[in-house]
Amino acid sequence: MSKSPRIVSTTSAVPALSTLPQHVAVIMDGNGRWAKGRGLPRIAGHRKGVEAVRELVTACGELGIPCLTLFAFSSENWRRPETEVRLLLELFLMALDKEVKKLHTSKVRFRVIGDIERFGPKLGARIQAAEELTRDNQNLTLTIAANYGGRWDVAQACKQLAREAAAGQLDPESITAESLEPHLSMAGIPEPDLFIRTGGEQRISNFLLWQLAYTELYFTPVLWPEFNRSQFDQALASFASRQRRFGQTGDQIEGQEVEQPARAGKGSHA
Ligand code: FPP
Repeated sequence: MSKSPRIVSTTSAVPALSTLPQHVAVIMDGNGRWAKGRGLPRIAGHRKGVEAVRELVTACGELGIPCLTLFAFSSENWRRPETEVRLLLELFLMALDKEVKKLHTSKVRFRVIGDIERFGPKLGARIQAAEELTRDNQNLTLTIAANYGGRWDVAQACKQLAREAAAGQLDPESITAESLEPHLSMAGIPEPDLFIRTGGEQRISNFLLWQLAYTELYFTPVLWPEFNRSQFDQALASFASRQRRFGQTGDQIEGQEVEQPARAGKGSHA
């Protein structure tokens, strides 16, 4: 069975409905508070957070969820103390070195979105190598948003269209939401069905602004280092219980069939 996700823009068509999300996007919040609560430095929370990332990647692989996107570092995170930013970048480097082979063995396609130039050539080269190594893997597409901002993404896509228009290759009047989408950094990946934010805050924080148009939002007070498989199952159960209407009426939706997951794993929420 093909694991390629269907790509449907939720504002131009109604996607097929499924009780299992095809794409989960996560803001991993609460690492600092987890560490502080234990009298540990903030970076200890981020380190523990990497373990939670590993558990979630494994769960998505087992359940047959084809796309997972994690917000690891926002364009606004540079406002943090310099030491924390430096230690976070070191942690990314270490995690890359340690995990990429395992991701490849598990047939995970690894990609990074965001303005990664600011991370410097060393991290940039490692990211590129990891993306190239895992490019053809089909089990799970793991996207890490790093130095990413939703507004940055829309702006850089507009810049590409503007260049084409300035070069006379594009009529500005022909620009639509659909013609912008291929220029966004999530092009080729379905919009998230489920967005999870841990740590108790209830906001999007400049994450995938464009792509979250019709995503189901799930907020939990659980701090990211404590977000385990059972917490994920709760989020999936909440998702499965929702009626997604995409602008239609409830009666219209009730007349439609809801797809069961293509490859249900151990989860009981299918
Ligand atoms: C937010 O918690 C978390 C971050 C800014 C960093 C997230 C990074 C990781 C989970 C580790 C590395 C990830 C990968 C993909 C290798 P916070 O520091 O804002 O927590 P607080 O709100 O409690 O202070």
